Amino acid sequence: MHSCGPLWMSLALLVFAATVGAGDVPEQLRLALTGVNGEMVVGWTTQLDAGSTVEYTCDGCGHFTVEGNASRYSIPAYTPPYTSPLLHCTAFVLYSYRVGHSKTGWSWTHQFMTKADVQPTPDSPLRFLSIGDEGTIKGAKEVLAGMLVAQEKFHFDFLVHGGDISYANGIQDIWDQWGQLVPWMVSVGNHEMRPNQTDAGFLYRFAMPTAQSGGESGNMYYSFDYGNAHMIALESEAQNFSAQYDWLKRDLAQVNRTVTPWIIGFWHRPWYSSNVEHAGSGDVMRGALEALFFDNRVDMVITGHVHCYERTLPVYQGALNDEAPFYITNGAGGNGMDDTWGDAPEWSAKRLAAYGFGYVELFNATHLHWTMRSSSDSAVIDEAWLVRPADRFQTRR
Ligand SMILES: [Fe+2]
Repeated sequence: MHSCGPLWMSLALLVFAATVGAGDVPEQLRLALTGVNGEMVVGWTTQLDAGSTVEYTCDGCGHFTVEGNASRYSIPAYTPPYTSPLLHCTAFVLYSYRVGHSKTGWSWTHQFMTKADVQPTPDSPLRFLSIGDEGTIKGAKEVLAGMLVAQEKFHFDFLVHGGDISYANGIQDIWDQWGQLVPWMVSVGNHEMRPNQTDAGFLYRFAMPTAQSGGESGNMYYSFDYGNAHMIALESEAQNFSAQYDWLKRDLAQVNRTVTPWIIGFWHRPWYSSNVEHAGSGDVMRGALEALFFDNRVDMVITGHVHCYERTLPVYQGALNDEAPFYITNGAGGNGMDDTWGDAPEWSAKRLAAYGFGYVELFNATHLHWTMRSSSDSAVIDEAWLVRPADRFQTRR
């Protein structure tokens, strides 16, 4: 594998937009981080397994060709006009690239840019977006349009998706519709699992860094480092959480808080929501894992599932606690709105029923800025600073 040093992605959202979508030409390009600086996974979909090649180049580094591995899943009820799609993945450093094969045709050439230094500075913070509960209907496209506006303004580095991605609900061609919209880091939601726990679309269409982070769960739970953040994706749809607990305990124990002072989790079902819809849906998971998060001084958690926006104050076991994570419910990705609220608990800082996306900036080891932005014009509709003590990196146990 070729390595050119730290990789900061700033144009990732643009790569899917211009992909040719007819015949066997690759389509639905999607990128993923691996947790290793200088590595990237690219996936795409074609109808024939005639070859899966990535050609790429960067200034001063020559031209390279990488062969990927195709995989296919089969669902009996899923028939043409789309045949069972292929997912091609390989890892490489890239600046300009195209994917495909001479027999089937090539995608357009795409690019993304790099930054010189992996550690952020106040002038050049780590930036990422958050979205959840998206789908392919009108509201989702509005949110996507808002994120593209934000990309032009802010040049964010990556995006995390808290689950309920395409709303395929087992209907495979919904994945094909959705795949033309987005590339990003994903966690699984309940609508990836239906019906009858059919999760093949989620498992085969993404290539999250599960193995790289010591897991064996497919894409279900994993972690990766990026800049000064350690990012953790969990599976809130699990029947029990013992396997995740064991993996999470190992994962948190190896975090170097000098290198990655921030720990941020994302998954689907919220641990703290005061919306009437899906009330208590994350309680079992919270009971199993919350102490681990608190003991290891996790900073922030982003979830979805409930179709609204809610931000909490730092909270642990239902009580305000300055040393605990604060929680975002961001299920406002465009697939309907849940606008019925219960009484506001003391930990609930902001509640909104509006489509939008979240935007995180990590300026240094101590200052995190969160904004929730409207889908229509990326205007700020909620914001908060999280300022942590510089000496917080010792765990309690
Ligand atoms: Fe959900």
